[in-house]
Amino acid sequence: MRIISLAGSPRIPSRSTALLKQSQQWLQQQGVEVIAYTLHDFKADDLLYANFNSPDINAFAAQLALADGLLIATPVYKASFSGALKTLLDLLPERALEHKVVLPLATGGSIGHLLAVDYALKPVLSALKAQEVLHGVFADDSQIVLNGEQATLSGSVTARLKEALAHFYLALGRRNPPPSIIHHSLLMRQPA
Ligand SMILES: Cc1cc2nc3c(=O)[nH]c(=O)nc-3n(C[C@H](O)[C@H](O)[C@H](O)COP(=O)(O)O)c2cc1C
Repeated sequence: MRIISLAGSPRIPSRSTALLKQSQQWLQQQGVEVIAYTLHDFKADDLLYANFNSPDINAFAAQLALADGLLIATPVYKASFSGALKTLLDLLPERALEHKVVLPLATGGSIGHLLAVDYALKPVLSALKAQEVLHGVFADDSQIVLNGEQATLSGSVTARLKEALAHFYLALGRRNPPPSIIHHSLLMRQPA
């Protein structure tokens, strides 16, 4: 199994990226290959000026096409997900998440915008034709203590994260293969 992880915070250090990194480690321990991206892997000009010919963004889309799933993290900004992340998602092909399982992670200043992932990010993931968007994990700032690049997650966030990752792992295993693979295996089963 192979997944892409995408850190959607423009800031370093970042609580949402800390949540993502813990998740990466857990998945890697289960044998999942994780290809990690952050917004900083892309040129700001490409994102701001919607450069559909950006080699970096096209390479990212190509990696995504080969992956089974996407682990995506964002801070809540103005009751939504980060605008910088949106500039990247806007440049992906229309069916970029077809056949993929997605697990969203988010952090916010308070639980007031707990539902931002549901009402703001999930519709965009659906527009990109995600096969399955799982119930994500939200943590407020008090639950993730940053000390430079090191992060300590509260016990309740750790427990919720592990549960969500276990569901993600199972969903990756049962995801529908692309039609080309189904077609090929049906052909293989036909008598000569
Ligand atoms: C520009 C900006 C806007 C924000 N807007 C919200 C908001 O609307 N609701 C909220 O709960 N937190 C808001 N916050 C707080 C962040 O969501 C919170 O600190 C989050 O953990 C930051 O994640 P990061 O460290 O990954 O960037 C905002 C922070 C910034 C910098």
